Amino acid sequence: MCGIVGYIGDKKAFPILIGGLKRLEYRGYDSAGVALLNGSLENYKKKGKVSDLEAFVAGKADDGTIGIGHTRWATHGEPSDKNAHPHVSMNGHFSIVHNGIIENYAQLKRDLETHGYTFASDTDTEVLANLIEYFYLQDDEMSSEAAVQLALSKVVGAYGIAVLCKKETEKIVVARKGSPLVVGLGSGEYFIASDASPIAEYTNQVIYLNDEDIAILQKDGFTLSNVQNTPVSLKISNIDMEIGAMDKGDYDYFMLKEIHEQPKTIEETFRGRLQNDYSEIVLGGLLNVFPKIEAAKRIVIIGCGTSWHAGLIAEYLFEEYAQVSVEVEYASEFRYRKPVLSSDDVVILISQSGETADTLAALELAKSKGATVIGICNVVGSTLSRETEAGVYTHAGVEIGVASTKAFTAQVTVLTMIALKLAKRKGTISNDDYKMLVKELAEIPEKGRAILSDGEKIKAIAEKYHEAVNALYLGRGYLFPVALEGALKLKEISYIHAEGYAAGEMKHGPIALVDNNLPVVVVAPQDDYYEKVVSNIQEVKARKGNVIAIVTEGDKGLKEMVNDIIEIPKSHPAVAPLLAVIPLQLMAYHIALLKGCNVDQPRNLAKSVTVE
Ligand code: F6R
Repeated sequence: MCGIVGYIGDKKAFPILIGGLKRLEYRGYDSAGVALLNGSLENYKKKGKVSDLEAFVAGKADDGTIGIGHTRWATHGEPSDKNAHPHVSMNGHFSIVHNGIIENYAQLKRDLETHGYTFASDTDTEVLANLIEYFYLQDDEMSSEAAVQLALSKVVGAYGIAVLCKKETEKIVVARKGSPLVVGLGSGEYFIASDASPIAEYTNQVIYLNDEDIAILQKDGFTLSNVQNTPVSLKISNIDMEIGAMDKGDYDYFMLKEIHEQPKTIEETFRGRLQNDYSEIVLGGLLNVFPKIEAAKRIVIIGCGTSWHAGLIAEYLFEEYAQVSVEVEYASEFRYRKPVLSSDDVVILISQSGETADTLAALELAKSKGATVIGICNVVGSTLSRETEAGVYTHAGVEIGVASTKAFTAQVTVLTMIALKLAKRKGTISNDDYKMLVKELAEIPEKGRAILSDGEKIKAIAEKYHEAVNALYLGRGYLFPVALEGALKLKEISYIHAEGYAAGEMKHGPIALVDNNLPVVVVAPQDDYYEKVVSNIQEVKARKGNVIAIVTEGDKGLKEMVNDIIEIPKSHPAVAPLLAVIPLQLMAYHIALLKGCNVDQPRNLAKSVTVE
């Protein structure tokens, strides 16, 4: 949420900043800006996309080898030129970009007003800029980093910041608490970004800042300390990021590219992990904690949004095969409850980005209770992956479309592997069932390709329903979370109100919504629930609803009964979510496109939700 970039070196900063902001635009896209140290402190900002900023600045910022930039997802103050970052302090000494929320900004603002400060924007960030300046001006000897340190010691909340000072023309000060920041190490140059994607094309050496770290970047050196002014040791990591993966390739939208990548990304997720003719699942990152998982009386799974849906599927898997009790929690609720947890519990946190504020807060709470904390995460080096005791990377590659697709199927693949491995270790699954399920999992990519090759049919169905105002998604068992995920995909990118429901719950309320205008998407492959779901479809048809059914290839029973049918290859119910979700992703994509929506950057959303 909000993207920060920075550069200090001998190259022209502006093109590097703009290129970086474009890579980070998925984090926020309501306004953007840059500041450059070029003898003076130049500030440019604009409501709109990074390309609007680029056009606005064209020809004005040709010089300057030190700069910071920002792409915004609004928290305090509507998207506008004045609320865009960077924010300049009242007397023009500092320019800062910020990701996060300063919770005590109102009190700090009142204090600053008593010292004569006035404010040009509605943001909490401008308060921080003025607070830094206030401390800086108290003492002629004060350095910019000391002023930043003092200001941050007064702040309650989360921040990732980069700061330029007009009088200290060879320096960028950066700091983080609760919002990610990565420093890229070049030769005689440094890069800053909210994640490694803008840095990868320049260097593969990075330092992930930890909470309360403050770094001072100068062309000839880099120092790291923390808010308490104690030195911090540097830990350099290598990143291995494919730049091509961050481009759309032949696709018009990242979302479509990422949907189509799924057969390959699922293969990547189990590459090297399904071994010896699939008779063994190897999850190196969990080696040390498996005895604890095996001994756990209960597993608590935590995530947000799509990651939470992956957790719901895992609940069915873990209970059925590993016979362990599972609770699935929204991180945003869990973090403020008084959960009963102990060192006997295992907590699995799922996050694509590994930076979701609620999930990280839930992680800290689980840790404080002594639980074993395990992460399932896509972004290598993210806070979640560093703060958990053990974990599994999903290896889905960079996901840029704001609506999560390939990360979801990768999460479900990892969770399926954990459930099966656990079941085998506990002896709660027969060898034959284990082998059969691992083989079923291994066959998913090929079956996924078959669904994707039927894309035109799904597009034709989207054409029929894209003017709907509401939609209902129904599923049962393993496919109930898929119904939730299908509804989420539709609402977030097409703005059609959609509800996901357990099909058996329909008669307890949602059936009142059914009329001849309502599309009802029913996930109804042939599994143990099939007959019951067919009855649910009858109930919808009896009330003139329009049913779009996702069925097993060759299903004859439903053809006559429903309005539209999408076939998916036959699979075992436990792995069916990995297939059934694909047509729902594609349908949401085509409907959104037909409605003229920006599917990669839906309104009001951002990819990494790093604020509460
Ligand atoms: C929906 C979507 C969100 C995320 C949620 C959690 O398409 O992308 O619901 O799943 O914000 O994000 P992560 O997984 O990064 O913690």
